Amino acid sequence: MTESIETIKTEALAAVAAADTPEALETVRLKYISRKGLIPGLMQHLKSLPPEEKKAYGQQVNDLKNTFQQALDDRRAAAEQAATGPAQSFDVTLPGQWRGLGSKHPITQLTERAIEIFQTLGFTVADGPDIETVFNNFDALNHPPGHPARDVKDTFYLDDPNTLLRTHTSPVQVRYMLEHPPPVRIIAPGRCYRRDTPDATHSANFHQIEGLYVAKKVSMADLKGDLSHFAREAMGPDTRVRFRPHFFPFTEPSVEVDFSCHVCHGQGCRVCKQSGWIEIAGAGMVDPNVFTAVGYDPDQVTGYAFGMGIERIAMILFGITDIRHLYENDDRYLRQFA
Ligand code: DAH
Repeated sequence: MTESIETIKTEALAAVAAADTPEALETVRLKYISRKGLIPGLMQHLKSLPPEEKKAYGQQVNDLKNTFQQALDDRRAAAEQAATGPAQSFDVTLPGQWRGLGSKHPITQLTERAIEIFQTLGFTVADGPDIETVFNNFDALNHPPGHPARDVKDTFYLDDPNTLLRTHTSPVQVRYMLEHPPPVRIIAPGRCYRRDTPDATHSANFHQIEGLYVAKKVSMADLKGDLSHFAREAMGPDTRVRFRPHFFPFTEPSVEVDFSCHVCHGQGCRVCKQSGWIEIAGAGMVDPNVFTAVGYDPDQVTGYAFGMGIERIAMILFGITDIRHLYENDDRYLRQFA
């Protein structure tokens, strides 16, 4: 009996040593230690042995099984190592892999900078959805029925004709005032949509920053003071601000706001088309009809509002000649503004 244990041991270990693929090793394993394999088979003889030999025999078969299993494991580890190559072998002199670092889009940079500046003046950021009600976008902002901005040629209406893609960030004023009693001091950046045919200066979607300050006795002087502070912080300490009379349905009086040209400082150059000034925003004193629409008492509060186009400012500041460059996501282009 001991003899056949020794024979099987010799053969089994030789078979392990000769197997050089995982498949060959598996075949050897099945032959020797699967449930019906040769090594468990040796245990069959236990029954026929005299009692005093049983213990020693069992031990020998167990030892064989362990020895075989160990040899099998060692051989398998060696085979795996051969397949994956030696561990710890990499060339420390190879150059590292370069992964390009992203940077903020110019629209994001400008938006964040504007928020930062207005926050120092006590403004908080307010938000509204891109899909708006006609009431918030037009009615409450004092656009009479038939106002040209409401035309389907200019505005994207949705299936529900009471909803549209907001044409400006001004509806955030309405939302905010409907939900908060005065005083109000908010800035609202966001995306807007108009049915414009894309060209170098038009895009069907673009970004604005809205501002609204409502309290007792807010005046045009507050508007000019705050925008002047913004101009100096954003464009440089010698920037001046000028108002030109204009019309918006939701402000009275209304103005267009120009900043002195940051390139020529007002002398006249190519960037400002020789005028010395660059148009930056629309603004004005909140129309009493808007206050009434949101449930404020126009005899108790006054306010100013403004809205500026971020793309326009980005184009002027960064010398971008075509608004479409901002949306093509060509990272060779955008990287310049990192
Ligand atoms: N909503 C205007 C536009 O899209 C911009 C604007 C002008 C916003 C005057 C205002 C404002 O808040 O007072 O052209």
